[in-house]
Amino acid sequence: MLENVTLRSLFRKKREGQKITMVSTYDYISARLCDEAGIDCVLVGDSLGMVFQGLESTLPVTLEEMIYHTKAVKRGVKRAFIIVDMPFMSYQVSQEEALRNCARVMKETGANAVKLEGGQEIAELVHRLVSVGIPVVGHIGFTPQSVHALGGYRVIGKKEDEREKLKRDFKALEDAGAFMVVLESVPSYLAKEISQPAKSITIGIGAGPHCDGQVLVFHDLVGLVEDIKPKFVKRYVEGAKIFRDALKRYKEEVEKGIFPSEEESYG
Ligand code: KIV
Repeated sequence: MLENVTLRSLFRKKREGQKITMVSTYDYISARLCDEAGIDCVLVGDSLGMVFQGLESTLPVTLEEMIYHTKAVKRGVKRAFIIVDMPFMSYQVSQEEALRNCARVMKETGANAVKLEGGQEIAELVHRLVSVGIPVVGHIGFTPQSVHALGGYRVIGKKEDEREKLKRDFKALEDAGAFMVVLESVPSYLAKEISQPAKSITIGIGAGPHCDGQVLVFHDLVGLVEDIKPKFVKRYVEGAKIFRDALKRYKEEVEKGIFPSEEESYG
């Protein structure tokens, strides 16, 4: 039987050089599949704004929506470690508001940790959250909540000043007590430079193979998102094609009177 995933077991994996797996997902069924497959961490990502709601960015996602989705995910998870994205502007206005919002997420959803985007500018807040017992995951590199400020979706760390800033941001989060940091869309060699001496667990997405673990969005890895495929996404199954074919067969069978047969009918 698979053991419950805890902070201790995640750090044990890091120490022993075993890779950590994380999947970002938003509902009961997909979370249950991740849990049954032995995925270590389920992230309720605010990417749900784009993937689940069809929005253009993660910016409009609300705290209430994150709580709603996390409650659904929690019901599907028996052993994985659940991390919740704090949505845009739920932690930037003031430390008091941020504390209150993070506390709400922890109290109302039963999640294990919160994830915040940003580096040095949120370090004090991270320290405060950690000091009241809330485990924090940082997120640096390409940070989707700052898509407009960053000038669109792109790799971060191609220029020297960006590389130096990324290292300072990582150090600030680590010193503040973030137990884990997501590195998104960062050159592989830079993620290696950051990860190798790191005390915090590093999780990559578009950051190469040298992080302590990897995260992908469920809908990307099962091939449900067909129109956008960033370089870092690997589809393990062509889900959209499989589902579409099934739907076409269902339509055809209903139209031809093949479904339902006596077998699918009550006597
Ligand atoms: O929102 C999300 O799903 C994320 C991951 C892609 C890291 O932040």
